[in-house]
Amino acid sequence: MRYSFLTHLSCTKCAATTEPTRLLNVCAAPGCGGSLFAEYQLPSLSRGDVAGRDRTIWRWHELMPAKSADEIVTLGEGGTPLLHAPRLGARLGMRDVWIKEEAGNPTGSFKARGLGAAVTMAKALGAKAVALPTAGNAGGAAAAYAAKAGLACHVFMPRDTPKVFRIECEAYGAHVTLVDGLIDDCGRIVAQRKDAEGWFDVSTLKEPYRVEGKKTMGYEIAEQLGWKLPDVVIYPTGGGTGLIGMWKAWDEMERLGWVGPARPRMVVVQAEGCAPIPRAFEAGEPVSVRFPDAHTYASGLRVPKAYADSLILKILRESKGEAVTVTDDEMRRGVLEMASSEGLFAAPEGGAAWIAVEKLLAAGKLDRGERVVVFDTGTGYKYVE
Ligand SMILES: Cc1ncc(COP(=O)(O)O)c(C=O)c1O
Ligand SMILES: [Zn+2]
Repeated sequence: MRYSFLTHLSCTKCAATTEPTRLLNVCAAPGCGGSLFAEYQLPSLSRGDVAGRDRTIWRWHELMPAKSADEIVTLGEGGTPLLHAPRLGARLGMRDVWIKEEAGNPTGSFKARGLGAAVTMAKALGAKAVALPTAGNAGGAAAAYAAKAGLACHVFMPRDTPKVFRIECEAYGAHVTLVDGLIDDCGRIVAQRKDAEGWFDVSTLKEPYRVEGKKTMGYEIAEQLGWKLPDVVIYPTGGGTGLIGMWKAWDEMERLGWVGPARPRMVVVQAEGCAPIPRAFEAGEPVSVRFPDAHTYASGLRVPKAYADSLILKILRESKGEAVTVTDDEMRRGVLEMASSEGLFAAPEGGAAWIAVEKLLAAGKLDRGERVVVFDTGTGYKYVE
């Protein structure tokens, strides 16, 4: 059987299709610039067919973009535990709280999934160097996978990003530029320089395959819960790649006959100091406005305007979801509660996701009996500064 059933890329804005045979960023139709999605001719594949395979993102290789196993650049990403959290849940009178614990990924965050897939494809399609803006974790992941692949890597991060992220990138051999600005300022520099420098831009949702790596979280949750999706999924959101990816995954899985049509309510969590999605969601807007003076110690949430904000907002509305904001002090409390109740030292983004449960309950938007999956997207060890 074929290794991958990838057939083409399709634009999420104008539906134009493209062959997936060369390095591509966004849709090239005049004035479009939409994110490109990988599309598959769905194979006949049963849930049992994958059962004995390695627990990495490539477990689902028919629905992943690499043409053969030889192309794959892997550090063992994916296959993270979904942990029942009874002691944490009991704090709020809940019994069915689960934590998707992403800290065990290579480089300590779920960014390994997306960058593992993106670097695999960049190398396979002939890139010699990748470049990206980062809030921290994506840079470390890109640098590690580029090192493994033998590609050069250029990382642009805000100057005030915790020092460990720069040290990590440099250890992996990446060229790091500190920028006086935020992640979108970093992204602009990459866009300006990439053609002259010969860099392939792996900014999230400006390249088709990071979302493919991150969608595997959707496959995994389904499998780990016995192929029944939870009632609610809580996702700390910067660029929104995982949220968008999981939504795509469940659509693929429904077409494969692996899950039914029911979907979780998707909950975006952002910081009070940087909440473009909650603002747009509450205002009923289809896109967000760049959030002014964005600040939060959860660097992964300091994204003042996500490139694919329209996709995030569409999913929130389709899923009858919510958008919640959390203060930095609340995140710190969330981290301590997760650590002392469940033995998980979460990134502040994970702490934020847990606090969102409390806020949804208080607002009457969550029932205590519902099954909730909270994303702990990375390790807390990188934030101890
Ligand atoms: C620990 C952590 N959580 C969440 C996010 C946000 O992820 P996404 O860009 O998929 O919304 C990031 C992004 O940098 C992160 O590092
Ligand atoms: Zn388009």
